[in-house]
Amino acid sequence: MRTIGVIGAGQMGAGIAQVSAQAGYQVLLRDVDMARAEAGKAGIAKQLARAVEKEKIEAQAAETALARITPISGAEPFASCDIVIEAATEREEIKRAIFAEVGKVLGHKAILASNTSSIPITRLAQASPDAARFIGVHFFNPVPVMGLIELIRGLATAPETVKAVENFAKALGKDVVHAFDAPGFIVNRILMPMLNEAIFALGEGVANVRDIDTAIRLGLNHPMGPLTLADFVGLDTCLEICRVLYDTTGDPKFRPAPLLVKYVEAGWYGRKTGKGFYDYSGDEPVPTR
Ligand code: CAA
Repeated sequence: MRTIGVIGAGQMGAGIAQVSAQAGYQVLLRDVDMARAEAGKAGIAKQLARAVEKEKIEAQAAETALARITPISGAEPFASCDIVIEAATEREEIKRAIFAEVGKVLGHKAILASNTSSIPITRLAQASPDAARFIGVHFFNPVPVMGLIELIRGLATAPETVKAVENFAKALGKDVVHAFDAPGFIVNRILMPMLNEAIFALGEGVANVRDIDTAIRLGLNHPMGPLTLADFVGLDTCLEICRVLYDTTGDPKFRPAPLLVKYVEAGWYGRKTGKGFYDYSGDEPVPTR
């Protein structure tokens, strides 16, 4: 593989573009318009500059990596890609429209991958030109820091597709785990019930935001408390994942906490909107409950 397409220049897409460019791949980065794709690249430039400041990478290496990233618009340039990774909003209709559009220009050996956190890969593959060359490649936030990639094979994903993407993931310096296409795969099946339960506990008045986070951070040695992590992932994304888990299994254990629904309805998506379980408008996050 030499050229990687990334669709979505938000926190996940930009992270994927950055680690791919740092590993030596050419990257085409697209979002809904050129301005957002350019903004994604500008954000990557900042991350790389910070890494240079901290003496984690050489200035020359940062410059070379940044030069490998080309913001684009439209789908035609993806014809030159060996793999196109979709990291758009976690909504099925948006992803399906992207696969249909990119599918028209995708090379006959190229792979189409989704960074979906929970939508079934077998179902998404139906919107792609070839289910054998369709796979789930699930990165974790922040992409440059987190060492894992979950690879999810759909019912029709070919073993060659899995192998090729596994080699790519390893070239990025990530460890790979394999999951079959089951709701939530491995990580979110286990993570989301924990985050959701923390929100139930908050809603039921068991403890306040700070104590729930401190309990899990110090009591279980997690780097972030569950409410901080939910804000970090995005409450809108957490709700979407809970809904997919609930809808695809029919199991009430996955029902979203009413308070999570309420916060999303209020437009409180967490860190990205400046408010969730914490208010991020000041120097330090302040609990909202
Ligand atoms: N981009 C790049 N690097 C970042 C970063 C970012 N957004 N945020 C932090 N870092 C780097 C810092 O530069 C720092 O690097 P050095 O140690 O080399 O200097 C390192 O990460 C640690 O950062 P800090 O010291 O500032 O802060 P910290 O020690 O509190 O760590 C954290 C921050 C790495 C995010 C840590 O809190 C953590 O691991 N949290 C859990 C994250 C997690 O669980 N992610 C998975 C979410 S689930 C998901 O993504 C999938 C899904 O489908 C929902």
